Amino acid sequence: MLLVKLGGSVLTDKGRLRSPRRTAIRRLARELAAARAPLLVVHGAGSYGHILARKHRLNEGGATRAKRGAAARVQADVKALDGLVVDALIAAGLAAVPIPPSAVLSLDDGRVSSIDLTPFLEFSSMSFTPVTFGDVVRDLRRGFSICSGDLLMLELARAFRPERALFVADVDGLFTADPKTHKSARLLEAVKPSDLPQVKFRAASRTDVTGSIEGKVRRMFEIADHVDECWIVNGNVKNRVRDALRGRHVVGTRVSRGP
Ligand code: IPE
Repeated sequence: MLLVKLGGSVLTDKGRLRSPRRTAIRRLARELAAARAPLLVVHGAGSYGHILARKHRLNEGGATRAKRGAAARVQADVKALDGLVVDALIAAGLAAVPIPPSAVLSLDDGRVSSIDLTPFLEFSSMSFTPVTFGDVVRDLRRGFSICSGDLLMLELARAFRPERALFVADVDGLFTADPKTHKSARLLEAVKPSDLPQVKFRAASRTDVTGSIEGKVRRMFEIADHVDECWIVNGNVKNRVRDALRGRHVVGTRVSRGP
């Protein structure tokens, strides 16, 4: 079993509301299909989620009519992005089935309080490809909140113990600083918790409602505990995802819990 998260920054233009990168979505779908192995697919929300979720502070929940309206809007938006991903996977030859987190999972103050894994288990046992995504979900304390794709990666890694977990990003992996702003940033080919002090994380971005890069990397360490290999690779480079799924050595960052 292989577990893949397609990051929202690869699937969408993160700065423009609800703007899909259709060519990238189609190519990545073909690369996933080319892996020819049982897959669980998670994807992020990109500009279908973060922009409005941030504007309305949906991660804090709430019980007003305006908040509910915004939560429903974002839920419908991420579902629309999921539709594009699922369609592309089907066109690429995979029997992709959407499993919306809002239907199977609830949080308690941001932490998972219950998740029904039955649809994942049963669909994958019938050789379907379950597809789930960052979503607005119920939260016992906050009313509703945001469940990131990364949190779903952790739950699925725990339950399925896949051989490989892959985070598909818009950069080659984890760098010593943000490669988009620091020319001297160096790619880390491997990272473990004790390496973090050498990484200069930028402050959480203005639009990213599910947290900082550092928080995401810390979650990857947890995931690495449940899988044989955990990688961050660049989904904008053709065939890198395909090759990484096939177990070939590619440019990227291997994430491990370390000694
Ligand atoms: C975000 O999920 C979910 C919403 C904002 C509704 P992710 O945090 O996994 O999405 P990306 O990959 O950063 O876009």
